[in-house]
Amino acid sequence: MRTVYVNGEFIAEQDAKVSIFDRAFLFADGVYEVTSVLNGKLVDFDNHIKRLKRSMKELNFGPKINEEEFLAFHRKLVELNEIKEGIVYLQVSRGVAERDFAFPDSKTALTITAFTQKKDLIDNPSVHNGISIITIDDLRWKRCDIKTIQLLYPSMAKTEAMKQGADDAWMVQNGYVMEGSSNNAWIIKGQNIYTREADNLILKGITREAVINVAKHLNYKVTAKQFTVTEAENADEAFITSATTFVTGVVKINGSKISSGKPGIFTKALREAYIKQALKQLK
Ligand code: PDD
Repeated sequence: MRTVYVNGEFIAEQDAKVSIFDRAFLFADGVYEVTSVLNGKLVDFDNHIKRLKRSMKELNFGPKINEEEFLAFHRKLVELNEIKEGIVYLQVSRGVAERDFAFPDSKTALTITAFTQKKDLIDNPSVHNGISIITIDDLRWKRCDIKTIQLLYPSMAKTEAMKQGADDAWMVQNGYVMEGSSNNAWIIKGQNIYTREADNLILKGITREAVINVAKHLNYKVTAKQFTVTEAENADEAFITSATTFVTGVVKINGSKISSGKPGIFTKALREAYIKQALKQLK
């Protein structure tokens, strides 16, 4: 049984409670982060907290958060739940207020919750086999740079992908690939690696940033530029990045085989290099 975190307390999961008036529950008025755990330690924690603060600022959340305290309860949750490999899910909601669309005038106390999940991140079937992708109309709002818990459309997209026998969906606007349901999308053509520029229409992935740096160290050429579905279908390699998948090869896009149906050479090299540097910077 898991121990979870609710507003300063460590509680057995079945005893954890949040108000039904919480704005996260009523309006999806909350933000979140997913931090991976390797060797019982946190990957890229500082950057996740930096992005969380940005998300909170963009939504005008009241109280400030204490980074040290967040690091401490992340570590404690990992320890209490004996997570060697997996994730910590962290959610911060604006808090409890009478139901009203407008943000409450008086500053509400944040609702801060977190829990762990055990997962095989380094070695699992998708790493070896790659994943298949369908593309789908991007019907999300235009502030995907804020990591909100408003995830209904990504859930619909992933469900649709699975219904069609694929693993995930890439969101498309005007023929251009934006990002995956919960990951950033990349292709490789010849010597060039492309991932879309991070503006308001996609989430600026922490893994994306780290992989851009890793690629530069390997002297690979990365260009932050959007690509079309057709370019993706005809790419030499394709992959996704996120805290839960690191770098994972895409081997089929809308039924078109990519890199002869197995994760490509550059994809594998990037994954290896990413994990190596992540392991050096654990917290
Ligand atoms: N998702 N794009 C979207 C829409 C995401 O939800 C995520 C992360 C990413 C990758 O970001 P990062 O590299 O910082 O994990 C890109 C997390 C893993 C999730 O929702 O579970």
